[in-house]
Amino acid sequence: MTARFLDEDNDLAHLEVIPGRPGGVKAVDLPILHGTMGPAVLDIRKLYSETDCFTYDPGYTSTASCESKITFIDGEKGILLHRGYPIEELAENCSFLQVAYLLMEGEIPTEEEYQTFVKNITFHTMVHEQLRDFYRGFRRDAHPMAVMLGVVGALSAFYYDSLDIRDQRQRMIASHRLIAKMPTIAAMAHKYSIGQPFMYPQNDLGYAENLLYMMFATPTAPFKVNPVVARALNKILILHADHEQNASTSTVRLTGSSGANPFACIAAGIACLWGPAHGGANEAVLNMLTQIGHKDRIPEFIKRAKDKNDPFRLMGFGHRVYKHYDPRASVLRKVCQEVLEELDYHGEPLLELAKELEKIALEDPYFIEKKLYPNVDFYSGIILKAIGIPTCMFTVLFAVARTVGWIAQWMEMIGDPSQKIGRPRQLYTGHTLRHYRLSSPRGV
Ligand code: SDX
Repeated sequence: MTARFLDEDNDLAHLEVIPGRPGGVKAVDLPILHGTMGPAVLDIRKLYSETDCFTYDPGYTSTASCESKITFIDGEKGILLHRGYPIEELAENCSFLQVAYLLMEGEIPTEEEYQTFVKNITFHTMVHEQLRDFYRGFRRDAHPMAVMLGVVGALSAFYYDSLDIRDQRQRMIASHRLIAKMPTIAAMAHKYSIGQPFMYPQNDLGYAENLLYMMFATPTAPFKVNPVVARALNKILILHADHEQNASTSTVRLTGSSGANPFACIAAGIACLWGPAHGGANEAVLNMLTQIGHKDRIPEFIKRAKDKNDPFRLMGFGHRVYKHYDPRASVLRKVCQEVLEELDYHGEPLLELAKELEKIALEDPYFIEKKLYPNVDFYSGIILKAIGIPTCMFTVLFAVARTVGWIAQWMEMIGDPSQKIGRPRQLYTGHTLRHYRLSSPRGV
């Protein structure tokens, strides 16, 4: 196969392919599409029909699955923009619901737009009273991600008046319901696991504050959320809100491309996020730091992380896109220091261990050569632990935050006139045609 760019002006790439079947060389000119930022793309939509060849890209390391205006990442420079705004500025200056509005609508809301949006979200914070019984079907020691996954998937059985994705109004109501109810569902999963009564959302509290209230208040005494903790959680939610076409967002888009209802799409995203290579890494980081236990054991674990025969990886390190410091990790590292100081956590051993591990790893030739830096999950777990969140709830909070990104991306996909059901192909390397014979050694 030969390929060459015809010329920059034509924005065409000329491809000549010798497919596996008779027919000789097939030539095709493929358009090159340019975005406002980031790499150009080779538009291969007609490749198969004209050359009988597929592309092959397991893990989609070189594949753009869609066109999007929501989030831009420059992995080499460690840049993350939401609708053009740097993540550092949004985390410093906005509330989580302002960022949610920005992701969904494309602009920072005016005061009036913001108040309307907050009212719409607040209106939906309670869950159907019968959903409370739904929790009773789970064991008390069930992982809260399993509970969240089950409950969110079940929402389509309760809110069937907002399932028609062709109806813009129903899409908006379902979106508001999901954003509003995720904190309530998350807090209920926590309360259920510790055998405490569920707490109803308080409509006079902010989004992060309400989540903390529902997790830690009890009916027996007034409960005031620590503003330091609420501010830290607000930043953590913003930093986890959206991240381009990551695994769980791609799962939501693929699920949505079949016309599945929004509750089912978000449940699919939750399932994917749970993996330790993805959103489950924050819990895995804490477990890893606890396993390391002391800085004297760091070299042992660095050695294991570099050993190809050892499945152990340094959790919270490395990223498919960032080959530089994850900008979210930089913000979280600062927030971590601030929160621990403000909460009088001096010399928190896990933070000291994490900083020592980061220092040693970043000086190690293996990590330098493979461009493995701390990612968003490396510090988030330490902050969450410091503000009293149980380790098993870390990914649940990641899912609460990422729901606004999943919804923004899902809405963009639904509104994209070129979108169609996602249906990748394959490189088949299995048996060629053969026939079943009664004498076959496998019997029936
Ligand atoms: C998130 O995509 C997103 O945007 C995700 C996310 C989001 O906001 O949605 O940013 C959230 O998922 C962050 C990542 C959290 N996961 C972890 O921290 C788990 C540990 N990290 C690794 O599992 C890994 O780095 C991944 C999964 C994150 C990325 O894997 P890639 O891109 O497939 O990279 P790779 O596996 O091809 O690694 C390249 C090389 C390999 O060595 P070689 O085969 O080239 O010899 O780097 C090595 C890997 O073995 N490597 C690591 C490593 N990560 C990669 N070696 C040791 N420890 C690690 N953490």
